[in-house]
Amino acid sequence: MAKVTVDGRTVEVPDGSNALEACRAAGVDVPHFCYHPRLSVVGQCRMCMVEVEGMPKIQASCTVPIRDGMVIHASSEKALAARNATMEFLLINHPLDCPICDQAGECKLQDNAFAAGLPVSRTSEPRRQFPGYDRTDIGPHVVADMTRCIQCTRCIRFCQEIAGTGELTFIERGGHTIVWTHEGRALDNEWSACAADVCPVGALTVKEFRFRKRVWWLEKASSVCDGCDVGCNVSIEHRDRVVHRYLPRVNPEVNDFWICDYGRFRAEGLNGQDFLRPVLRGASGERETNWGEALDSVKGAVDAALAEAGEGSVLALGSARLSTEESWLLARLFGETLKGRAELTVDDGELRRIRNPKARGSFEGFLKGREAAPNSRGAEAAGLVRAGKDSALEKLLAGGPAPRVLYVADAAFTYRVKDPEYVAALRRAPVLVVHARTRNALTDVADVVLPVASLAGKEGTFVNVQGRVQRFDVAIVPPPVVRTDLEVLLHLGRRWGAFDTRWTARDIFERMRGSVDGYAGLEWDAESIVGAPPSVSPAAAYDSLLAEPLSLPELVLPAAPAGGGAK
Ligand code: SF4
Ligand code: SF4
Ligand code: FES
Repeated sequence: MAKVTVDGRTVEVPDGSNALEACRAAGVDVPHFCYHPRLSVVGQCRMCMVEVEGMPKIQASCTVPIRDGMVIHASSEKALAARNATMEFLLINHPLDCPICDQAGECKLQDNAFAAGLPVSRTSEPRRQFPGYDRTDIGPHVVADMTRCIQCTRCIRFCQEIAGTGELTFIERGGHTIVWTHEGRALDNEWSACAADVCPVGALTVKEFRFRKRVWWLEKASSVCDGCDVGCNVSIEHRDRVVHRYLPRVNPEVNDFWICDYGRFRAEGLNGQDFLRPVLRGASGERETNWGEALDSVKGAVDAALAEAGEGSVLALGSARLSTEESWLLARLFGETLKGRAELTVDDGELRRIRNPKARGSFEGFLKGREAAPNSRGAEAAGLVRAGKDSALEKLLAGGPAPRVLYVADAAFTYRVKDPEYVAALRRAPVLVVHARTRNALTDVADVVLPVASLAGKEGTFVNVQGRVQRFDVAIVPPPVVRTDLEVLLHLGRRWGAFDTRWTARDIFERMRGSVDGYAGLEWDAESIVGAPPSVSPAAAYDSLLAEPLSLPELVLPAAPAGGGAK
């Protein structure tokens, strides 16, 4: 650690920090554009100018390594004049089209112009134009508008240093310099939209979100991507019960500043809701009904199965998309109360990966997912049995004995439900009940469809590939009659006296602490689990200002039994 004095305030900062980070740590906000805690330092924009005692010239603070005893004047007349001059140069070359720019409201140039710019403009000359390089797609997800570029090189460094793909470069020189793709190649990598995230202005924007909503209208909820078991921390941004986008939420232990494009654009899918009321199908056809009749019919079918065929005649299939709390309810109800089986099957899925900060600087340094769903570890810890050889599911699929009632707690639990043969095998159960949000081949043949909310409408915890328990919060209230999986299971369980319908996800989390491996000692309370994770870099002080990472202590699960089981 080194002691540094900034504007008369002395702070201790980790060795390896730079003067900009020291100013941050001292609570002095030095405006900057090109500095980013995870990208190399280039001193490109000259916005972060400060005076440093012992250095004759004014300095770009991001380029100055701190040393013990350093004295920085970040708010001196000379420093402010230098920053004003930089702002003036940038604004001379900027279109100032904030009213029609989709970055407005989250634009660093706007913010810094307010905070560090001159109150009047000394120029009214025509602005630079770049015909052919404005409002142009440069990849599947990113739109470029080079009239707005301030040449900070963040996007170029992101592609080189984080993605490792290097699609972007400067072309032309001097006042004509723009960022573009090498030889017209597309900006097309697994994390391409993160290049727009790091762009401090509206020069790169995300095609799918452009002009959908002014950002100041958006509300935010902390959540976890359910695209794979990396479990990237995201912010669900929404308005009027519509999800508009995911943004990465900084967590250096998991996804750092990034999310993959596949995960990011799952946000759109959260708005789909084909089922708004429970559906019953029978000899007389299909009809919508209320929750009382729907759940009573499930209870009637289960009781009849148990009376006629005895224990083991009911099979529940969980899903690695259910929260651990929901899986716990499913396992308790179908495994313990109803003496049946509660099993789980998971798709391997395409490998997803995210740059892990602990391996910063290495192109091998990725946190890699293994499964196409977020929570198989939590589901197993909660008591669901992974389907494998000799499991009830495998026997059913192989043409063996069918359960009298098959209860599927997520109609989209596997991509295999697109396969008519797979669906036909499940449909061999005389009674098929599914939880569903959107229509698929399984919901088309189910006897009872129970409408449930998306990830955006519920709260709970997932356990990611590292064994890290992560909480996600409610973003939007589901449509009126739609319920969460948790509420459905509570109300169904109450019919056998198993659960109390007043329980919340938090109540169940607290109950699990006594019985689920790894949850002992964990706290649901936001005060204790929302906060900066252990610092991993000299930039940690800066990180904590940018976001509120959400993480719980590491969960250590027992080793998987030998043989594993089919997925
Ligand atoms: S496009 Fe954006 S991130 Fe890239 S150099 Fe220009 S301003 Fe910086
Ligand atoms: S790596 Fe996985 S968890 Fe992260 S954003 Fe992509 S799909 Fe989502
Ligand atoms: S932030 Fe320091 S020069 Fe750009």
